[in-house]
Amino acid sequence: MLKIAVLVSGSGSNLQSILDSIDSGYIKSKIEMVISDNKDAYALKRAEIRGIQTFVFPKKDISESILNAIDGKVDLIVLAGFLTVLEGDILTKFKNRIINIHPSLIPSFCGNGMYGMNVHRAAIEYGVKVSGCTVHFVDEGTDTGPIILQRTVPVYSSDSPEDLQKRILNEEHRAMVDAIFHIEKGNVRVEGRKVVVEDGGAQID
Ligand code: GRF
Repeated sequence: MLKIAVLVSGSGSNLQSILDSIDSGYIKSKIEMVISDNKDAYALKRAEIRGIQTFVFPKKDISESILNAIDGKVDLIVLAGFLTVLEGDILTKFKNRIINIHPSLIPSFCGNGMYGMNVHRAAIEYGVKVSGCTVHFVDEGTDTGPIILQRTVPVYSSDSPEDLQKRILNEEHRAMVDAIFHIEKGNVRVEGRKVVVEDGGAQID
């Protein structure tokens, strides 16, 4: 059983999908704690309802605060809509043990300034016909770590950024729990920039 810390800044629908998948038995991990940079994040309520320990840290030196809170207590850090970029020791201590979900098909529409509705607005303005979400390991860059899995959605000419966000968020919920499922099963191997996900010997693409 993996012990997980989930980092959140907002509504926490991805956190909820993890909790629901634990309830259904699809994933076996345990959420040890939920940590936020925003005391008003609804995600904190979702955790409190479940009796999960929560922490709110100020943005200054937040990477160290998080490392102090989790060190020795968790195996995996899940960034589920966490808006602060992690830096420093936490990245080396938890190398290939921090995952993030981003609401586009990386390397498109990611990096600095690409969060929230900005991502979907940029995708629509560019005129892409598909978008989606990406679960990836976190490294020193912003949205640059090795990609674990991606799910796609169509983009329609009538879409507003909100329409696209909704369609992608549905896929995020699935992608997030699938990534955790494969990590806890030991199916995930990082080979340089590439991540191989194997299930019983068969590679999943
Ligand atoms: C998601 O779109 C996620 O990809 C992004 O922030 C949003 C968080 O949604 N990083 P929620 O808080 O999980 O509902």
